[in-house]
Amino acid sequence: MGELGLNKIFGALLATALGLMGLATLPSVVFGGEGGHHGEHAEEMTLGEKMCEQFHHCVEIAEAASTGTAEAVFDLGAALLTADVAKGERTFAGQCSTCHTIAPGGANGTGPNLHNIVMAEKAHMAGFNYSGPMSNAEGGWTYENLDAWLKSPAGYMKGTSMSFAGIKKDADRANVIAYLAANTEGAAPFPAPMAAPAEAAPAEGEAAPADGAAVPAEGEAAPADGAAPAAPEAAPAEAPAGEVAPT
Ligand code: HEC
Repeated sequence: MGELGLNKIFGALLATALGLMGLATLPSVVFGGEGGHHGEHAEEMTLGEKMCEQFHHCVEIAEAASTGTAEAVFDLGAALLTADVAKGERTFAGQCSTCHTIAPGGANGTGPNLHNIVMAEKAHMAGFNYSGPMSNAEGGWTYENLDAWLKSPAGYMKGTSMSFAGIKKDADRANVIAYLAANTEGAAPFPAPMAAPAEAAPAEGEAAPADGAAVPAEGEAAPADGAAPAAPEAAPAEAPAGEVAPT
């Protein structure tokens, strides 16, 4: 094929290319500015995205900025130490008691009776009509689980039948949890505050000095001695184990 043939082919390619370009700009013509702008932006965006993909810190920084400082470290142990049971009782009366009783032997209402709920198995009231997810949920109501649950029931357990938005304020939540503990016979000690110096972590297994059933007496949280019927699932792996053991 001679030069002329090649030219024809190039011509055809060019025509096709032009045709495609025409098609590409069509949306902007048909649908107004949006399509065309979108096209342009898409190119900028993908460039930005590409850069983020290649330079991972891009994402990491964004994440750190959003979670790292804002609320990542809520010290439940510390919050419980200073929790106010009386305030918790008031919050319970205002926000929970429409659905829950908490006195021993109290009737189930829209929600189950909550006496002895701390460290209880999930779906602890035989005979209450729990949702599927709650019935099948693993683990018990550790302080950590109660905290996560009460912060956002639906977020903690998708499909739960407890229609309650959650208590967003950490201190309010801690107060309610302390109130639940005050209504749990022989409630486990509160988790230790994070702030405690990490040096005291020698005795892992049985650092528990048996100083009776450490019931967190109304509000003034017993210093956690790690003896808690160990939070089965919620215990963060690197939790300062059994610290501050008052002997
Ligand atoms: C609108 C009614 C309603 C309100 C308000 C409500 N709950 Fe519930 N709660 C329920 C229902 C229903 C369930 C059972 C959920 C399921 O089966 O998924 C439940 C379950 C629970 C459980 C788990 C019980 C178990 O046996 O495992 C706890 C703990 C709990 N609620 C605490 C609270 C606290 C504390 C408040 C107030 C801050 C509160 N709830 C407010 C209806 C409510």
